[in-house]
Amino acid sequence: MALDALRISGYRSLRELRVPLSGLNVFTGPNGCGKSNLYRALLLTAAGARGELAKALGAEGGMPSALWAGERDRGSVRMRLGFTNENWDYEIACGLPIGGARAFLLDPLVKEEEVRYVGGSRPIALLERKNASVWLRGEDGRRVSYPLAVLPSESALSQIVDPQLYPELAALRQEIGNWRFYHHFRTDADTPLRRPRTGVLTPVLANDGADLAAALQTILEIGDGAGLEEAVDAAFPGSALAIFQERGRFEVGLTMPGIRRPFEARELSDGTLRYLCLLAALMSPRPPGLLALNEPETSIHADLLAPLAQLVLRAAETTQILLVTHAEILAGHLEAAGAAVFRLEKVEGETMLAD
Ligand SMILES: Nc1ncnc2c1ncn2[C@@H]1O[C@H](COP(=O)(O)OP(=O)(O)OP(=O)(O)O)[C@@H](O)[C@H]1O
Ligand SMILES: [Mg+2]
Repeated sequence: MALDALRISGYRSLRELRVPLSGLNVFTGPNGCGKSNLYRALLLTAAGARGELAKALGAEGGMPSALWAGERDRGSVRMRLGFTNENWDYEIACGLPIGGARAFLLDPLVKEEEVRYVGGSRPIALLERKNASVWLRGEDGRRVSYPLAVLPSESALSQIVDPQLYPELAALRQEIGNWRFYHHFRTDADTPLRRPRTGVLTPVLANDGADLAAALQTILEIGDGAGLEEAVDAAFPGSALAIFQERGRFEVGLTMPGIRRPFEARELSDGTLRYLCLLAALMSPRPPGLLALNEPETSIHADLLAPLAQLVLRAAETTQILLVTHAEILAGHLEAAGAAVFRLEKVEGETMLAD
């Protein structure tokens, strides 16, 4: 179910930002204006729904680093991450840890959390949390206190998991769990992308693209194989995919015009390898509800931006897309096809939507 709006506050340069979303959303703006922060805020929301909020924040320096470091009006600063779609309104608010497990200074402390069902004639609160106390809507419609202790550093949504007792929470968790994120595909000499790797049927490319060969083979077998072959030819005229397979180990390769043998993964250029990752991500035979891409144009030549735009537009027919880009050409192609383009700017340290 597509998101109608994102709300983020107190997270890095996103002091207070509300973004109305459509099916295909493109974010551009100068270096440091907060594009990746926006992408990461969504990633943190998804990590929170999986019970990995502290881990995801830890990987970027922890809660103290993540909190808005600029001027504040009053009181202690909170990081709030929230969204609305046709059925749900979800919000989680976190602050710095106080007391308790003092060793874990990088952990967030969840202060508030709310799940509301907004698909009916009036909103219904299904879950409300204040610090360690959680209330849920019982079967008879009354508020009941959740009897078990919840971890202070993780969302209640990730911890109240009984699908029989709380089917709506399970549905929401599953929906968020289905969001997909791709940021950077490592293409240096040591990247797993350039090595043969045990392959299994892979309808979803890993975040780091490590299972690229298996993911492409999966599209050839159970997805739009002809479309994939066409897309490879459109990007690299005269070329064709060659997925090497030996005793269950897969490696991606490419035949090229004028060359008598297929190139192996370690011989492919950085841009070629990245583009193949984008093909696997955007042509997944199991498309996600929401796909977020941060700077997919990295090391992609300008000539490939038009075919990339076509891929994105095709994917947007089934998937809501949030795409961060520096490539004006890519943004231009997508805007011409009806995408919502948001230009971000930073004003006194704060990320804003430019008019
Ligand atoms: N805790 C914080 N409080 C306020 N601002 C922060 C905080 N942490 C980082 N920032 C700001 O966020 C900026 C980085 O934002 P971000 O990485 O989203 O930029 P970007 O738009 O993706 O840029 P690029 O195009 O270079 O990738 C930093 O330069 C800094 O100004
Ligand atoms: Mg960035």
